[in-house]
Amino acid sequence: MVALAVLFNLVNGFLNGRYLALYGDRYDAGWLADPRFLFGTALFFTGLIVNLSSDNILRRLRDDDQPGYKIPRGGMFELVSCANYFGEVLEWVGWAVLTWSLPGLTFALWTVANLVPRARAHHAWYRRTFPAYPAKRKAIIPYLL
Ligand SMILES: NC(=O)c1ccc[n+]([C@@H]2O[C@H](COP(=O)([O-])OP(=O)(O)OC[C@H]3O[C@@H](n4cnc5c(N)ncnc54)[C@H](OP(=O)(O)O)[C@@H]3O)[C@@H](O)[C@H]2O)c1
Repeated sequence: MVALAVLFNLVNGFLNGRYLALYGDRYDAGWLADPRFLFGTALFFTGLIVNLSSDNILRRLRDDDQPGYKIPRGGMFELVSCANYFGEVLEWVGWAVLTWSLPGLTFALWTVANLVPRARAHHAWYRRTFPAYPAKRKAIIPYLL
């Protein structure tokens, strides 16, 4: 698992870094005012905040040093079971939009392909395990999935 995670990030990091090194000059000063850059950047930082704050909520669930799993509460967890994955998806979709590049798009697609099935499995597990699990909560995309 760890080796696969390292490989995944090496490939994505290499493709995106190589692209920027080769074609970075297409992003001139005008790109900073382009709606794709502005919207993608807003999406990226929104996702970053959701991802970090949701990981923090999960981390605090183990503050009592008990190893088991609990129902996460607060923040985007009120809407989805895997708020940290939702934030991660927003980040890389934002990156794809702000760079408007094929490597950016592939990173976003791999992230979706990786995290959506995991979120659905986590969500199904929560619902099986906790009879009082919030019924309106979705797996990863608020109100949709
Ligand atoms: N870009 C990508 O494709 C990608 C892929 C994978 C991960 N990531 C990111 O890496 C980070 C970690 O991912 P992950 O898959 O390890 O996340 P995760 O399954 O949500 O677990 C994160 C941590 O929270 C604990 N935890 C989760 N649910 C809990 C609950 N209900 N009660 C108590 N503790 C709970 C887990 O404990 P246990 O270890 O005991 O389960 C683990 O220590 C996330 O920010 C994710 O977005 C990104």
